[in-house]
Amino acid sequence: MSERVERRAGGAPALVGSEMDVPLLTGGSRRYVNLDYAASTPALVAVADAVDRFLPYYSSVHRGAGFKSQVSTAAYEGARERVAEFFGGRPGDVVVFTRNTTDAVNLLAASLPRSTSVVTFCSEHHADLLPWRREGLRLSCLPVPGDAAEAVRALTAALSGSETVDLVAVTGASNVTGEVWPVAELARVAHHFGARLLVDAAQIAPHMAVSIAELDADYLVASGHKMYAPFGVGLLLGRADWLARGEPFLRGGGAVDFVTDTTVQWSSVPARQEAGSPNVVGAVALAAAVSELGSYGMDRVWAEEQELASYARDALAGMPGVTLYSLWPDATVRTGVMSFNVDRSEHSLVAAALSAEYGIGVRHGCFCAHPLMIHLLSVEAKDVEQVRRRLAAGDHAGVPGAVRLSLGLGSTRDEVDYFLESLERLVRRGPALGYSVDPASGDYVPDSDPRGALGVARELVSATGATR
Ligand SMILES: Cc1ncc(COP(=O)(O)O)c(C=O)c1O
Repeated sequence: MSERVERRAGGAPALVGSEMDVPLLTGGSRRYVNLDYAASTPALVAVADAVDRFLPYYSSVHRGAGFKSQVSTAAYEGARERVAEFFGGRPGDVVVFTRNTTDAVNLLAASLPRSTSVVTFCSEHHADLLPWRREGLRLSCLPVPGDAAEAVRALTAALSGSETVDLVAVTGASNVTGEVWPVAELARVAHHFGARLLVDAAQIAPHMAVSIAELDADYLVASGHKMYAPFGVGLLLGRADWLARGEPFLRGGGAVDFVTDTTVQWSSVPARQEAGSPNVVGAVALAAAVSELGSYGMDRVWAEEQELASYARDALAGMPGVTLYSLWPDATVRTGVMSFNVDRSEHSLVAAALSAEYGIGVRHGCFCAHPLMIHLLSVEAKDVEQVRRRLAAGDHAGVPGAVRLSLGLGSTRDEVDYFLESLERLVRRGPALGYSVDPASGDYVPDSDPRGALGVARELVSATGATR
């Protein structure tokens, strides 16, 4: 059992690695400031402890007769129940464990009958856009709406046309600008016209209580690594019928009851959609995460984050030389995710300098939402085409994008203040060091970087370098 601290001052759940110092290229080191929760969150200490407790029992699931296999099977199935309960699963709903949100959306898309008609918005993350473009499905992508009410109106108009729509897929919150989408209203519209609704909860589930039953959604997808359980698991929760009738996403052992030379009898769900050995550790980790989040209280998580997010957003909006983006400028409900640019500085250079000179971790680029970024940055069609050509030729430099700051459980007012001071200094004075762009990645990199990230990584993946 570890001696890690379970709670931070104030009672908030503790995170693994939150006390770590990182080297600065300007000299010395400082406590790492993680403002990149929207990409991946650190593990909760409670999650790491649950994994440590489980690992001695780890064994095969579903097929093993041994005691450890029985424990592992019961833990895996118990995790399924725990996760269903956390997300408000209804009787008859099924949880399929996947690798992540992308995998979950692809799984549902692959199980839909040919000619299923899907409607989504062009502002979605690629994970909720590209799987619906697969052959055999009919996708209608609605333009980025100007506000929540317009999203509802646009969906109503799209669904009241002559073509039947089977499924509406929409995000719970923007992964770029943080607006919370009116999912319950969109679900009402979808159901009125006989369609189902999938909510991509990847960016909402870590921030507020999300119940598939209360939203009256039909499917919910999310990622463990964005919910403080970075052990390679995601989930698809929802109605069983399409998944039970549809093509298994993966074909192989575990998904079948009986196979002959010429026939196959597929299992019922969820096994039918979970071929191969499942990620038991990931499922246990996710169950521990939702238990910990549930016992701390998602309402508390939301309230604490809201205070910090409003503070950060107001400060960024008022900072000279900074442009803060908004999908819906009048939106009042937003998560702690926000994107901005510094005038006359490339997003990649700002992110590189925040890391190298200030020890701050943010993300930059287009956040897997290219159509949305083209819209937010008002990139003209001719420039879009030019970027496309340059990328096709292997040149990733100068691609439009932004810097994203995202808050999570471990974020503090001190961290936000330090970030704001650092950014303000960067805006005023520019970077203190020299950076050059790497055309292969488009990223700016310091001209000299003795911080040794590669060396640390090499040690971590060698058996003898293990530090935990
Ligand atoms: C809104 C949204 N949906 C889906 C995804 C994809 O998640 P994953 O990479 O875990 O599959 C992300 C990831 O950032 C996201 O922000």
